[in-house]
Amino acid sequence: MAAAWDSSIAEELRMVEEEIRRSVDSEQRLLTEISMHVIGSGGKRVRPGVSVLSFRAVGGVEVSQVIGIAAAFELIHSATLIHDDINDGGEKRRGAVSAFRKYGVQRALVAGDFLFVKGFRAGGSFGPKVVEIIADACARMAESEMVQSDHVSDSSTSVDTYIEIIRGKTAKPIEASAKVGALLGGGSEEHIEALGLYGLNLGLAFQITDDVLDIVGNESVLGKPRGMDFRDGTPTLPLILAMNDGHDGRRISRLFGKKRKRPEEVGEALDLMADSWGLQAAREKAREFSSKAIDCLAPIPPSVYKNGLRSLARAVVEREM
Ligand code: IPE
Ligand code: IPE
Ligand code: MG
Ligand code: MG
Repeated sequence: MAAAWDSSIAEELRMVEEEIRRSVDSEQRLLTEISMHVIGSGGKRVRPGVSVLSFRAVGGVEVSQVIGIAAAFELIHSATLIHDDINDGGEKRRGAVSAFRKYGVQRALVAGDFLFVKGFRAGGSFGPKVVEIIADACARMAESEMVQSDHVSDSSTSVDTYIEIIRGKTAKPIEASAKVGALLGGGSEEHIEALGLYGLNLGLAFQITDDVLDIVGNESVLGKPRGMDFRDGTPTLPLILAMNDGHDGRRISRLFGKKRKRPEEVGEALDLMADSWGLQAAREKAREFSSKAIDCLAPIPPSVYKNGLRSLARAVVEREM
């Protein structure tokens, strides 16, 4: 991501990295190895960044209070990436071969569970309110994955259903990262609420952009393969909008409805979608959510951390990785 949205929290993020590494230490060397394979291959660290910036933006001072929770959000995120690649058949992640491809499905599953538990443990030490927010976000994530699986290769999936799915699978965890950061920073109810809404809108913008990049992204920059969503039958906003547009839309829709898609069919659909009005409209929708996220910051007093949150919202929709 180009903009230096995280420049004001470089030291905090360095501490988060240390905390993450400490957390995944295990007697079972393979668990640590698989965890570090994923965590050490990169990643934008958006979720811990949102926690730390929210903590600071409401005036949080004692930084040790937020490091553990920021690490927890990245651990949980890493767990979902490992499980997601098993579900989606994702061969590459963060520029490296995905965990299940390298270590096998069974071991990758256990490593994902391990990271979930480590994340929860870190979150659990902050009291029932924090546990409730994290547990709720994780439950919503799982529920949304189930709704998504009901719509595999379903070319009649509505935009509303899509938004509901991404709200649960991506936006709720980012909302939780923001809310918990603000809560631990001693923010007022109004500020916690505002930052939560910021995170929610940021998350929606983030996932729509991810779905756009699945069509037009550069694989070596993205660090993961393109065209996975179409191949797997996952309905995304650019796809839904493109399917409802004209002659090409009907062709895309017919290809999408096929349970098994040949590589050349995926390629044809990607080309059609890349040139479609739907792709541009999806980008526009992502920008709308990004602007909404920025508007939600209105009650937060000016600071470098608020600037960081604003830059992040812009960077998320302009990103190429
Ligand atoms: C990927 O998340 C999964 C989605 C929610 C789209 P990121 O794009 O934040 O992945 P990393 O952490 O930077 O690798
Ligand atoms: C994100 O959706 C799902 C998670 C919340 C992990 P994707 O399936 O689009 O994520 P990528 O593209 O594989 O990173
Ligand atoms: Mg995936
Ligand atoms: Mg994706």
